Amino acid sequence: MRFLVTGGAGFIGSAVCRHLVGVEAGQVLNVDKLTYSSDLRSLTSIENHPNYQFIQADICDREAIVSILKKWQPTIILHLAAETHVDRSITGAAPFVETNIRGTFTLLETCRDYFEGLSPALKAAFRFVHVSTDEVFGSLGPTGAFNESSPYQPNSPYSASKAAADHLVRAWFHTYGLPTLTTNCSNNYGPYQFPEKLIPLMTIQAMRRQKLPVYGTGLNVRDWLHVEDHARALLAVARNGRVGETYAIGGQSERNNLQVVEAICDQLDKRDPGPQPRRHLIQFVADRPGHDARYAIDSSKITRDLSWHALHNFESGLSNTIDWYFGSQTWWEPHLRSVQAIASQPVLEPSESGTTP
Ligand code: NAD
Ligand code: DAU
Repeated sequence: MRFLVTGGAGFIGSAVCRHLVGVEAGQVLNVDKLTYSSDLRSLTSIENHPNYQFIQADICDREAIVSILKKWQPTIILHLAAETHVDRSITGAAPFVETNIRGTFTLLETCRDYFEGLSPALKAAFRFVHVSTDEVFGSLGPTGAFNESSPYQPNSPYSASKAAADHLVRAWFHTYGLPTLTTNCSNNYGPYQFPEKLIPLMTIQAMRRQKLPVYGTGLNVRDWLHVEDHARALLAVARNGRVGETYAIGGQSERNNLQVVEAICDQLDKRDPGPQPRRHLIQFVADRPGHDARYAIDSSKITRDLSWHALHNFESGLSNTIDWYFGSQTWWEPHLRSVQAIASQPVLEPSESGTTP
């Protein structure tokens, strides 16, 4: 199997590449533009592996993608490249429209030409897996869960751009017969996540005894899934999913944001006790505009049809993730200057804060 992974230098894409090369013995070409949220150091464990290659390219660059497809001759496209941070989409939606919509369109068009030129046997094996999000379905009330039949109701520029991409992917299957599959996954967590997202941001802030900015009431709920479980799910969909279908993927680990931040504080207090418990660092700040109240995923289709289920439980997964950030300052420190919430705050000296990193 020859895989082409877009966005493989990002958080989930790098976990997918590590899984494909390390566990599945697949041949992988990682195509990534290397935007602010990427980090090739997340791929150090496989960078010299004979089955792994990297090329820097923008999915909006038609010529580059045509040439990559011609040379690499992939069997499976795993499309993860995207602008992914909701807060950034609120302050500037243009790159989201560009990469998530125009980039996906460019990839679909170039893959359609490439697919048309394949032999019947290679055509039968070819798959285009589009990696999307549960945010396209909007916000849930206190009960219920999203599934493959949930109506599209995106509320942020990010989720609207992902919804547009999902619709393009669907149309390229129905109109042109491109063998596409789409996944809609809930919030991921784990090592190598860019420190603007809730869990790494709060972990690093709490380690350094900095303020922990919780939006609104802190009662918004997310359904957390370990990134390695997501990588395994994507492989299951690529290998055994039904062409033209969508798969909802979730962790059955609903927590409100305050619960998550308090758990991070408590775990760090056990590792590195200080003068005061870290919960006192929590600050309720202005809410995110259009903040979705609750996400939850009913994963019964992928469990039933593809025998996938999450292997990590949230408590131990979170604890291991905190350990990873605790020991990986050299990975996350260079990223902090592009994270607004951190860049705007003075860092206390270790003697003032009584803490390690
Ligand atoms: P990320 O921001 O960590 O990584 C995105 C990667 O895409 C980066 O390496 C970046 O350089 C690359 N990229 C951006 N624009 C590009 C372009 N024009 N051409 C080529 N590469 C480009 O994101 P992530 O959290 O790893 O998310 C990966 C995918 O999974 C996204 O499509 C996202 O919508 C989806 N998703 C994420 C989550 C989550 O919780 N993080 C949940 C569900 C779905
Ligand atoms: O649901 C899947 C989506 O999860 C993905 O499609 C997105 O790419 C990914 O970024 C993520 O979106 P969220 O907006 O849910 O993730 P984020 O980490 O930004 O925020 C999680 C929750 O925490 C959300 O309710 C907002 C809140 N939050 C976030 C930050 C950064 C805070 O309260 N304070 C913060 O500083």
